[in-house]
Amino acid sequence: MKPRIAILISGGGSNMISLVKSINANKINAVAAIVISNCKDANGLKRAKDLSVPSKLIDQKKFEGNQEFFEESLHETLKKENIDIICLAGFMKILTKSFIDKWNNRILNIHPSLLPKYKGLNTHQRAIDASDYKSGCSVHIVTAELDGGMVLGQKFVNIDKNDTAQSLSKKVLIEEHKLYPEVLNKFIQNLDK
Ligand code: GRF
Repeated sequence: MKPRIAILISGGGSNMISLVKSINANKINAVAAIVISNCKDANGLKRAKDLSVPSKLIDQKKFEGNQEFFEESLHETLKKENIDIICLAGFMKILTKSFIDKWNNRILNIHPSLLPKYKGLNTHQRAIDASDYKSGCSVHIVTAELDGGMVLGQKFVNIDKNDTAQSLSKKVLIEEHKLYPEVLNKFIQNLDK
């Protein structure tokens, strides 16, 4: 049976698109079962519809800051959809340990830095400010430590003298779109072993 993937987004969803396209092209032996956004304005929701992937909004605002209820609703949806693997793709909400424990070693995330460097936000500016000559992206297992789980794969880009956070983010994003499908594919192959 092909593993069923849920892709969680909060914004544009370009990584979601690259995952769905790789699945549809049979480059990943999986089913793109559902795209879930925690933000109603996420452009990725419309893009998921364009790709004919089922999508759902679980609007975090409706939970008025109650993370437990938000995560309960998320968990129920994932169970109902028989999800095997969760891919966070620009999902900007930090999940609690209690939720992560329920999906132990089954949640992946893509992060725009060469972990363990620059966990958290503003990764590109921090790499430039540190005069780093290279940056990149990482896919890792999600644990309760923010951006701290085992790194499964990375891709590198050079930081040029004239790079800004914006230009660097564009370069890194191109690599993200290659890295996430590659890592998800290997992750699934290893599940069978
Ligand atoms: C990506 O840079 C990802 O690494 C980070 O958020 C961004 C999401 O971009 N976590 P998109 O929504 O996939 O276009």
